[in-house]
Amino acid sequence: MRAAAFTELVGPDGVDVIDRPDPAPEPGEAVVDVDACAINRHDLWILEGDSAMVDADDLPFVTGLDVAGTVREVGPDVARLDAGDRVVLCPNETCGVCRFCREGPENRCENFSLYHGGLAEQARVTADRLVPLPDGVDATTAAALPTAYMTAYRMLERAEVDAGDTVFVPGATGGVGVATVQLCDVLGLESVGTSRSAAKLDRVREVGLDHGIESADIDEISESVDEPVDAVINHLGGEFSELGQSVLRRGGRMVVCGRTAGNTSTFDVADLFLGHKQIIGSTMGTQPDLERLVEFVADGAFSPVIDETYPLEETGAAFAAMQDGESVGKLVVEP
Ligand SMILES: NC(=O)c1ccc[n+]([C@@H]2O[C@H](COP(=O)([O-])OP(=O)(O)OC[C@H]3O[C@@H](n4cnc5c(N)ncnc54)[C@H](OP(=O)(O)O)[C@@H]3O)[C@@H](O)[C@H]2O)c1
Ligand SMILES: [Zn+2]
Repeated sequence: MRAAAFTELVGPDGVDVIDRPDPAPEPGEAVVDVDACAINRHDLWILEGDSAMVDADDLPFVTGLDVAGTVREVGPDVARLDAGDRVVLCPNETCGVCRFCREGPENRCENFSLYHGGLAEQARVTADRLVPLPDGVDATTAAALPTAYMTAYRMLERAEVDAGDTVFVPGATGGVGVATVQLCDVLGLESVGTSRSAAKLDRVREVGLDHGIESADIDEISESVDEPVDAVINHLGGEFSELGQSVLRRGGRMVVCGRTAGNTSTFDVADLFLGHKQIIGSTMGTQPDLERLVEFVADGAFSPVIDETYPLEETGAAFAAMQDGESVGKLVVEP
């Protein structure tokens, strides 16, 4: 089979299509013919050499978390799936025995890791991590859901928002940002989002953004947020955490999942305790979250925003588009 592999950790030029032996499922596993695999900023960090997870010794490395496709073959003991089933993968890898695996939520597993390997014609995965796809949810749509939408959905849960609440989303035009905006719309929440691009904000307005602020300047954005917000969904980190804290109402919650704008933030301690605010870390979501999202899509509650699809040979171009920052929503490779 063919796979789009990282052969050098130098950015988009380091992606090459290579041949790999066809995988065979071991007990508990399934092999999926990959129809679509979305890419994430997480993969780009790896490709740029900015992830502790992969170094030169691991090359060639095939990434790709968000796999959707058709089951090709199942391992000897796998009963709940058959060849031909249409599925999407929950990329969570958990130990199954720690306190969080037993009591939930599973995304807090003490040994949590993520599946990598979807940017290929076939993917060998844990069969129990496959979520069946209803008719009407195609593979490309499904592949957009796992990482970005699961993460956004779980962050909104952690923010304990109620219908009518206002949610601030700095960086509202990328994977997690657009997912948050769309889920706010589904859940009856008012969204305030930012972008450096007026054109991109216009596109996000079309899928439910209530208030757009065209700026990346912290002071300018702060002045443009009219009322303190109930929650902040923060995937940017850096100085956007200070911004988020400053626009949060008394007792509000800021949930953080990323560090695109910087791995270090400072916070105003007195404002935190006098304002009864909370800053909460969150990573990914649970498989039931993904099942819920698939149901939402099947019911027509929303359809994930896919900016562009690429054949496997153009995986490098997909990463170049993510790096250029011109896209809105998800970029999906169709091997
Ligand atoms: N912990 C988890 O489980 C988890 C899961 C998913 C993602 N993440 C993290 O969340 C972040 C977003 O991931 P993603 O896949 O959604 O990325 P993405 O699609 O590349 O996000 C693009 C968004 O980020 C904004 N942005 C990028 N660089 C910026 C900068 N320097 N200053 C201000 N805004 C900037 C863009 O704003 P413009 O509109 O202005 O271009 C755009 O809205 C990443 O850090 C990722 O690692 C974490
Ligand atoms: Zn565990």
